[in-house]
Amino acid sequence: MSTAKKDYKRITVKSLVEMKQNHEKISMLTAYDYTMAKIVDGAGVDVILVGDSASNVMAGHETTLPITLDQMIYHASSVVRATERALVVVDLPFGSYQSDPKEALRSAIRIMKESGGHAVKMEGGKEVKESIKRILNAGIPVMGHLGLTPQSIYKFGTYTVRAKEEEEAQRLKDDALMLEKAGCFALVLEKIPAKLAEEVAKSVSIPVIGIGAGNGVDGQVLVLHDMIGMTYEFQPRFLRRYMNLYDDMTTAISQYVDDVKTVDFPSDSEQY
Ligand code: KIV
Repeated sequence: MSTAKKDYKRITVKSLVEMKQNHEKISMLTAYDYTMAKIVDGAGVDVILVGDSASNVMAGHETTLPITLDQMIYHASSVVRATERALVVVDLPFGSYQSDPKEALRSAIRIMKESGGHAVKMEGGKEVKESIKRILNAGIPVMGHLGLTPQSIYKFGTYTVRAKEEEEAQRLKDDALMLEKAGCFALVLEKIPAKLAEEVAKSVSIPVIGIGAGNGVDGQVLVLHDMIGMTYEFQPRFLRRYMNLYDDMTTAISQYVDDVKTVDFPSDSEQY
């Protein structure tokens, strides 16, 4: 398999399809604010996802359900201001697209107009087909999301691996083909068996980005705060932590507290 890497000045939805065709894996990470997005973009990540995981990571909610469209727009506009190269994809939050296609289109238009994001992501298969078509008809690129779809957590009841049984696996394969046919430019597959994810990636021409879906797909996505080890409670098997920032920050902040208490900080050279 080729590891050729083309130098893209700005990633577009077309570049991602080209990467799949050239067997170049796609890197995607979440970001929710300006400072983090600037680091992620500068480090060469291809796609920044302003995920509704901001509901957990930034706001401390137990699920992704409470985050609002206004809050997603706030996060996304901060990320867009920081980004020079990456494609910025913004999650349509729970409640902003499920009721009918017109509402879905209104929500997607608000995201594009008010945040400057480049595309939207929506969870679900045939149940959101009409909404996806309407958004695409307005010229807004859509990324699909199948497998574990956290906005439906109360329907599933758990965050365990999805589509292990044949019936659900078949439904997922059908949905992936439907999303490709409808015109989605890419697809996220979350927490499904690696073999199934690979099969799906081979069956569609659009890029398939996995999270907990093995290495037979066209790219990977992780939640930034998990991969840099700022969070520590969440320990799924698929998560690789590249740093242990929680511990490093705790050490640094405790040192600061000590330095203030002992009047070590500020020193003579740190004052006017
Ligand atoms: O919201 C999010 O962070 C996501 C990723 C887990 C794919 O949807």
